[in-house]
Formats: sequence, structure tokens, C-alpha cells
Amino acid sequence: MFYLLIIFIVILFLTLLTMSIASISAAPYVPLFKRDVRRMLEIAQVNSNDIVYDLGSGDGRMLVMAARKFEASECVGFEISFLPYLISKIKILLLGHNKKIKVIPKNLYTQNLKQATVITCFLLPHALKKLGPKFATELKPGTRIVSYAFRIPGLKRLKKDKPNPKSTAIHLYVV
Ligand SMILES: C[S@@+](CC[C@H](N)C(=O)[O-])C[C@H]1O[C@@H](n2cnc3c(N)ncnc32)[C@H](O)[C@@H]1O
Repeated sequence: MFYLLIIFIVILFLTLLTMSIASISAAPYVPLFKRDVRRMLEIAQVNSNDIVYDLGSGDGRMLVMAARKFEASECVGFEISFLPYLISKIKILLLGHNKKIKVIPKNLYTQNLKQATVITCFLLPHALKKLGPKFATELKPGTRIVSYAFRIPGLKRLKKDKPNPKSTAIHLYVV
């Protein structure tokens, strides 16, 4: 009983600490609706030739849908919040996708993104401002970027998807 309590307190502490850091760093943990995950992957036209990177992958829903429904060949997520990271790892293991999907518990700003053919992100404007130059210099020509809600300063947008006045905009870029 005592050990269970200690484990619970440690998990709670790690969860609160890493979620606070994430909120300041790039965005708080706000999972997308499944319909918006699908929209993003459709707009990027993800297919079996793609390597999809989700920056701030939360509970892994983007990676799982990219692998299962869109048959992306490889999916990689970066996530620094402890609890969403743990949930995504368990989900991927249970679904048996641990070869195709990787979630890395590291800071998204410091990762090398050059292998990606598609980048997905739902991050705050200050994070996108920091990432714009990284995208422009590091990504291979032809890489698609889809950003939920917020535009990426400094990159030329190819398309804005907002099917009705109530829906949130999704912005498509091709570097
Ligand atoms: C708005 S959520 C997006 C969730 C997810 N992409 C989805 O499809 O539901 C942003 C995520 O970015 C994570 N995050 C924030 N700063 C980060 C950083 N510097 N490195 C890695 N992940 C970060 C947060 O923990 C959070 O899970």
C-alpha cells in the first residue's frame, strides 16, 4: 500500500511538472478531435511512401491514424509530457505497432527532422515562430507541413482549409 502511494505521488509529480514545462515550451496537452486528425492527414495527402513526424505527439492519436488508416511507412512523435507519452507508448504496444510507430520523450526543438516527408503540429504561435527557420533549413524539398489553427511565420502557405465558419483552420505548407 505504501509503495503504491509513493508510485502514485511520483507519477502525479512527473505529470504536473512535465505538463507545465510543455505548456510554456510549445503548447499544453490539448488532444485533437479524431475528425481533425483525419482532416490534417487528408490535407497532407499522407500515403504509404510517407514518414510522418508529429511534433508534440500527445497520446499518439496522429501517429496511430497515420499508420493504420493512411498506411504511412513510418511515424515518429516527440513528446515531453510524461502522462501523454506513457499513454501513447502503451497504446502503440497494445495495437502491435511498435515497429512502425516510435514516440521519443525528447524536446521537439532539438530533434533532427530531415527524415520526415510530412510534419504535423498543433503548437502555439511562439513555438511556430521558432520552428519556421528550422523547417526552412532542415527539411527536404517537397516535405509537407500541416499546422492546426496557427500559421507558421516566415513560410509561404500553400493552402488554408476551413470547410465551414465553425471549423478550425488547418494550414498546409510545402518546403
Ligand atoms: C496541443 S497538443 C497536440 C497533441 C497531439 N498532436 C494530438 O494530435 O492530439 C501539444 C503537445 O505538445 C507537447 N509539447 C509541448 N512542448 C513540447 C516540447 N518542447 N517537446 C515535445 N513535446 C512538447 C505537449 O505536451 C502536448 O502534448
